[in-house]
Amino acid sequence: MAKGFTLWFTGLSGAGKSTLAEHITPVLRARGHRVEVLDGDEVRTNLSKGLGFSKEDRDTNIKRIGWVAKILTRNEVIAITAAISPYREVRDWCREEIGNFVEVYVKCSLEACESRDVKGLYAKARAGQIKQFTGIDDPYEEPLHPEIVVETDRETVEQSAHKILAKLEEMGYLANGKA
Ligand code: ADX
Repeated sequence: MAKGFTLWFTGLSGAGKSTLAEHITPVLRARGHRVEVLDGDEVRTNLSKGLGFSKEDRDTNIKRIGWVAKILTRNEVIAITAAISPYREVRDWCREEIGNFVEVYVKCSLEACESRDVKGLYAKARAGQIKQFTGIDDPYEEPLHPEIVVETDRETVEQSAHKILAKLEEMGYLANGKA
């Protein structure tokens, strides 16, 4: 039976966490793995409905995601999480809880995220219409020792995905070179 693990994406809004999760999921499924994606936006309309963006609410959101990822992981599922998860301490708490935990820092400059502004939220944050927006007037704490760093303002989605898959093979979570 394949080993379960959690692939934990962290990074600014618009950095490409969801895009990468969506790109990698079918690749892993084609290799015979069971995969579930816990996407920040989706979680906030279901499991974390009603939570806001204070530190307390974000930590609650991340602990919930961590808990679901933990029970998936122990059932041989690959759990992929794609939430900003801006606070180091609660990410490290999830790491301890889950055990088989691979942190991917989806690194992208604020300038690039802001110029993409896929959801138009950076413009609103700059205009003061949204408060406590990560990277604008709320903190993002970079991971100090992530297993993987992808630089989405310099790499294509394919290159970043390849980096992740290669590292997962190297770590023994995936069998070598099937795709
Ligand atoms: S987290 O901080 O709790 O991990 P999460 O990933 O669930 O955040 O949600 C982030 C998404 O919520 C962003 O991509 C954006 O679409 C939206 N959002 C709305 N308000 C904010 C805000 N103040 N800060 C960051 N993201 C926000």
